[in-house]
Order: sequence, then C-alpha cells, then structure tokens
Amino acid sequence: MAKLNYEEILNKPNLRQAARRSKEPSKILYDDFNIPSEVVNIGVGKKYYVATYGCQANERDGETIIGILEKMGYTETSEMDDADIAILNTCAIRENAVDRVFGEIGHLKASKRKKPDSIYAICGCMVQEEVVTKKIYESCPHIDLVFGTHNIHKLPQLILDVISKKTRIIEVFSCEGEVIENAPVKRLNNLKAWVNIMYGCDKFCTYCIVPYTRGKERSRLKKDILKEVQELKDQGYMEITLLGQNVNAYGKDLKEDNGDFGELLEDVAKIGIPRVRFVTSHPWNFTDKMIETIAKYDNLMPFIHLPLQSGDDEILRRMARRYTKEEYIALYNKIRETIPGVSITTDIIVGFPNESEEAFRNTLDVVDTCHYDAAFTFIYSPREGTPAARMEDPIDMETKHRRLEELIAHINKDALARNKEYEGKVVKVLVEGSSKRNDDILTGYSESQKLVNFKGDPSSIGKIVNVKITKAKTFTIEGEQVD
Ligand code: 5AD
Ligand code: SF4
Repeated sequence: MAKLNYEEILNKPNLRQAARRSKEPSKILYDDFNIPSEVVNIGVGKKYYVATYGCQANERDGETIIGILEKMGYTETSEMDDADIAILNTCAIRENAVDRVFGEIGHLKASKRKKPDSIYAICGCMVQEEVVTKKIYESCPHIDLVFGTHNIHKLPQLILDVISKKTRIIEVFSCEGEVIENAPVKRLNNLKAWVNIMYGCDKFCTYCIVPYTRGKERSRLKKDILKEVQELKDQGYMEITLLGQNVNAYGKDLKEDNGDFGELLEDVAKIGIPRVRFVTSHPWNFTDKMIETIAKYDNLMPFIHLPLQSGDDEILRRMARRYTKEEYIALYNKIRETIPGVSITTDIIVGFPNESEEAFRNTLDVVDTCHYDAAFTFIYSPREGTPAARMEDPIDMETKHRRLEELIAHINKDALARNKEYEGKVVKVLVEGSSKRNDDILTGYSESQKLVNFKGDPSSIGKIVNVKITKAKTFTIEGEQVD
C-alpha cells in the first residue's frame, strides 16, 4: 500500500476542532466496546508492555488499555524489548513530559530492529497535538499505531487494522468525546481504585492544553458511578478517588436531574467504602455544600487539592482562572475552618508570560498566608495552540528558575511546619506495604494524605491502623504503630 502524506490522513488531530463545544449533551454508550472476532484471542502467548505518563486520568486510562489487552489474551512483560505490543500512554501538560516520551520512542527503534513484527503504539494526550502526531508520522517510522484519548476503547479494531492492512495507522479524533461505559479495566492496585466521574474540561485556562486533548466536560450518570463504587466496596477496596479535571463541574452537562458534585459525594460516602477522595477541584464553583458534606462524613477524607496557579489578580485574569487572590484566600480559610484536620495542597505556575516581580511577590504572599501542606510547582511551559502561547514573554529563563527556587523554599518551610503539628498525635494510616530494605518499616497514607513511614506489624498491610507520630520531615512523617 502506498504511503500517505500526512495531509492525506483522515483522522488526525486538529486544534481548532478540539476547541469547539456544542450545547448538545454527550452520548453515553453502553455497548460501544467490542473485540472483532478476527482478533479475539490474538494475544494468547504474546506479551504487552504499557507505560503510562502524567496524571491520574491517564493512569486510569492505562488500566483500561491493560484491561483490553488482557481480554485479548496478552500477558504482561516489564521489558519493552520483549513485548509483542508496546504502548506509550502519554502526557502533554508541559514540554518536558513530551520530550521524555520522544526519548522513549527513540529507544523503541532498537527494539523494532530486534522484533520487527511487534506493534508499537503511542496514545494519550500528547498525540492529540497536531505537531506531535505529524512529527511521529514523518520521523518515527517504527511507530505502527497512533490513537488518541477519545478512541481507547477501539484498540482491538486498531490492532486488527495494523495487522490486516499492513500499514501504519493514525486515528486521533479531535471531537468533543463520548462517555464509554463498557470498556474493561484491570486495576493496578488492590487497595485503592480510581473512579472517573467526568471527562474533559471546559475551563480553558489560557496556559492549559487539557481542554483540547481531553475534549468537552462530560459527566457519567450518577447511577453508573454508584454501581461501580458499590462493586469496588464488594471487592474489598479500602479507598477510592473520584476523578475529574474539575470535579465541581460534575453534572452540569447532563440534561437529566442527576444532582451536582456535593450530592454525588454524599451518595458515594453513604455506600461506605472506608476512604473516599477526589481530584481536582477548581476554586471557582467550590460550593459550601461540598465543604459541609466533606466535614459531615468520616469516610470523606480531609484533604483538598486546590490549585492556586498564581496569587496575582492580573495574572489570574490573563490565565482566565475566574477568581481573585482575595476570593481564593476566603475559600481556603472556609475550608480550613470547616473541615477538622484538613490538609490543603496546591499547584503553582511561575513565569507565566510577562509575570512581573511584583506579581511573583503576590504569589509568595498567598503562599505565606495559606501555609500549604504541600505544593506542585512548575515553570510555565508554552503549549502550542493555547492563548498564553501567543502572549509576549520578555522574562528570561534564569529569572523563572530563580523564582521557582524561591517559591519551593517557602513551600518546603510550610510543609515541614504543617507536618510538625502531627508530632505526638495518633493518625489513621491505610497500610500499603513495607519498605524494600526492612519488613518492619511500613508505609501508607494518613487520612489527610500524609505519607507515613512507621514501625509496625507487617500483617497490618491492607488495613487501617493507628500510628503515633514521632518525627516530621518535609515530605513524610514517621512514627510507630500503636494498635
Ligand atoms: N505550564 C506549566 N504548568 C502547567 N500546568 C498546566 N498547564 C501548564 C503549562 N502550560 C500545571 C497547572 C495544573 C497542573 C496539573 O499542571 O498548575 O494545575
Ligand atoms: Fe487545565 Fe484549567 Fe481545565 Fe485544570 S481547569 S484542566 S488547569 S483548563
């Protein structure tokens, strides 16, 4: 078959199309996943390798990909070179995430020489970007298959296409997306599970690529979510995390009277899984009902990730974040005051286009007012196609790095001080495992999402135990099991 020019490929990413949002509610499909008869058992005796990069939504997608491959008979290998099918499930949030994957794609070249019949695929957010998929098609001939975030459930058909058409397949849709309810899943953790409650994002923060790579906000129906949560409880899961790019928007896209996020949280809590968490909530539209519900139920964990991004009103406006510094701090204080023992973390970007020294100082000011438990800090990375990438940015990289270092110093000081408040107290820890070097050193998370390393009984793994905290560090707290 003749090789197509990139321009001739039918289903390739298109940013303009990806930015569109229709008023029509998204389709919820209950029977769209299937395995064509030609490839039902094609994986028997063959191995898969799946590497996932990026956020929790991607990790959950990785579990769907693995679930599909295992349904087709493939078994796991941890060696890329051994794989009959290798899939890199990628992230596009910052340039360095993309660079890392191109490094891995380079490594696959040697593997392909050793095993020319293997199938190599790239999927996830990165390939929803026009420039990336074009580059893969034109410069990485050893990549057989590229598929996007909207057609993961079509993987069996795509594998069949690669095999039967004996050609490279690019199939990336920029459409707004659907909700697929019947795709398989292989959960990679037997204590903690991810539960998608909604997909996509309509916030269009000006620096962010996610609304383009993941499509329109589309919620799952509450009945489907509650059914999944009940099943996880019956299977013995101790913790679930409800996932959405912005969980506060849950339900707003649905026509039927399905309730909002506050109501969903309450119904999920009542099912009675020992621990329920959620990420991420945008400070805009964070309702009192949500805060009160978290305070009311013991199994809704006192932990909130509340991205600040910047503490400067002008930058916030140019980021299209929909809140001011003052509004953010008022919400932050309300959460701290209402939810006992809550810990609050954040995301902050330094070096947004043309961020003045004064604007940066305003961010430090919010940090010094809030005293976060922890923060993820980033240097702004221009993403092609987003409005911020077109803004003028005279600030040099050295200044941006200096600001990042200064910010991290403030964050770490607060993190240690917050952790010190735990010294002498007893916290409940869900025990996840033991230290590689010492079986008696166990590890797990407190209700407030502190990583706890402690001396304890290895038979406690999988249970929730009480740990007395003896020592605080910046990123962890340490202690001894007391029962
Ligand atoms: N550059 C730097 N950081 C970014 N984030 C999102 N887009 C960018 C970008 N272009 C950060 C935000 C977000 C987190 C997941 O990643 O802080 O909350
Ligand atoms: Fe990106 Fe903003 Fe949506 Fe978060 S809320 S995914 S930062 S656009």
